[in-house]
Amino acid sequence: MVICSAPGKIYLFGEHAVVYGKDAICCAIDLRTWVTATKSSGTTILSSLGVTGLDFDIHPYISTVVEEMRKLVSFTGIAIKVDSNIPVGSGLGSSAAVTVATIGALNSLFECNLTHNDIAKLGHKVEMKVQNNASLTDTYVSTHGGVIKMSNCKKLPLIECGVVIGNTNKLSSTKEIVNDVSMLRLEYPQLIDQIINIIGELPNIGEKHLEKKNYGAIGELMNINHGLLDSLGVNVKELSNLVYATRSAGAYGSKTTGAGGGGCMFSLTSKDHVDNISKAIIANGGDSLITNTTNCGVNVESKYENC
Ligand code: MEV
Repeated sequence: MVICSAPGKIYLFGEHAVVYGKDAICCAIDLRTWVTATKSSGTTILSSLGVTGLDFDIHPYISTVVEEMRKLVSFTGIAIKVDSNIPVGSGLGSSAAVTVATIGALNSLFECNLTHNDIAKLGHKVEMKVQNNASLTDTYVSTHGGVIKMSNCKKLPLIECGVVIGNTNKLSSTKEIVNDVSMLRLEYPQLIDQIINIIGELPNIGEKHLEKKNYGAIGELMNINHGLLDSLGVNVKELSNLVYATRSAGAYGSKTTGAGGGGCMFSLTSKDHVDNISKAIIANGGDSLITNTTNCGVNVESKYENC
């Protein structure tokens, strides 16, 4: 039996634009998914979504991982159990984390010798199969941990100020929202391409401020990024309410994270404003999660032989 974990993520800058090959800065956070994999005669998957066999509707990511791993190693069955403190469908990378943790668990259980880069690439292939369109970012960051600038995969310093996430609890589908943006782009290519290009510039400016721990400037750039995401049509009222409430409560900056359409926003803040920001999120109907960025990517937590 193997227990393997992988982290969720927030986008400091660049979601959606990264799908079109632009730069982004994405950070692994201290919320994780743990996958327990045990050799078995049949295949079962147990998660908060229910108990199934291979099921591409209820457990598409895990089922696709099992299918892909079978191309690398032969096994009869597998029992998979998922535990997670990453809210599902909320823009915090729950899909990438469960994909990467499952690949990591099977890699260790069946001794496939996949490297971290192999795990990230296979995770990306799985996301592409399930979502039709996905950047490498989510699975790369979940695999390697840290604060990463895509597209050159450069590791940047961890964020040392307060990070507070606000969850609207409104579910959203990355696949649908990425598709909505591509439709908007087809309709107004001359406008949308320019917005995507500007979003793609933010990581280059933000990187320098991150290295100097200039969180005030990063907050300003986050606010600009949020406005640009709004113009792509991926923002919703519930997210805006949390974004404006947290800015009024003293955040350096606040923006939506991930695909949008619901899900989560986050704020960067000085440590002494963390409680105020958290209270502002709750007062405006959201759930608050206080977190940190982390260098811990995919990680085999324990391995017991003969299971
Ligand atoms: C989703 O977490 C981020 C998007 O940019 C999609 C992707 O990068 O695959 C919206």
